[in-house]
Amino acid sequence: MTDYEIPRPTSGDIVELIKDDHRIFEEMLRQMRDVDADREAVRQAFSELLVAHSEAEEHEVYPKLKTKKVIDGEEEEHGEEEHAATNEALLHLLQAKGTDTQKYEDALEAVAEVLMHHIGEEELTILNPAQTDASEDLRAELGVAFATARNQLLEQGCGSLEQVEAIVKQAYDDGLLPNDEQPTEQ
Ligand SMILES: [Fe+2]
Ligand SMILES: [Fe+2]
Repeated sequence: MTDYEIPRPTSGDIVELIKDDHRIFEEMLRQMRDVDADREAVRQAFSELLVAHSEAEEHEVYPKLKTKKVIDGEEEEHGEEEHAATNEALLHLLQAKGTDTQKYEDALEAVAEVLMHHIGEEELTILNPAQTDASEDLRAELGVAFATARNQLLEQGCGSLEQVEAIVKQAYDDGLLPNDEQPTEQ
């Protein structure tokens, strides 16, 4: 599928695990700009990790932090909306044919912009409270749950063009993306 190696820790402090992925995303964005890198392989690995990471956060981390009153429902929903926006930008990146076109470069910069915005906000409004208000035990428990869900998704494959298309469509159906902007078939 891809020769780009994605680390797959199975446990750890949830705050550290999520931040480690964020640093990998930053590195992948740089590599997807680099003419000397295997940009096609990195693009596919980036898609797999981004989907696995966001889904694992939504299913295993945000709801538990909300139950434990570390974050509130608004922060959870805002995170989900930003994941939806990031997935839509990812879809445009995957739709670019090849990695040496203007469409690819434009889509790459667009996904970089929404993803870096989300990472900044998530670290400030979700990970900082998790660091200060969640117990060490809870952070370890969430670490295992996040890593397990993330690795399972990576194992089964979750970031193909068809899969990302379906995720974006679902986000529109769930009202996570503004309906008037739904794109027509490209
Ligand atoms: Fe994240
Ligand atoms: Fe996130």
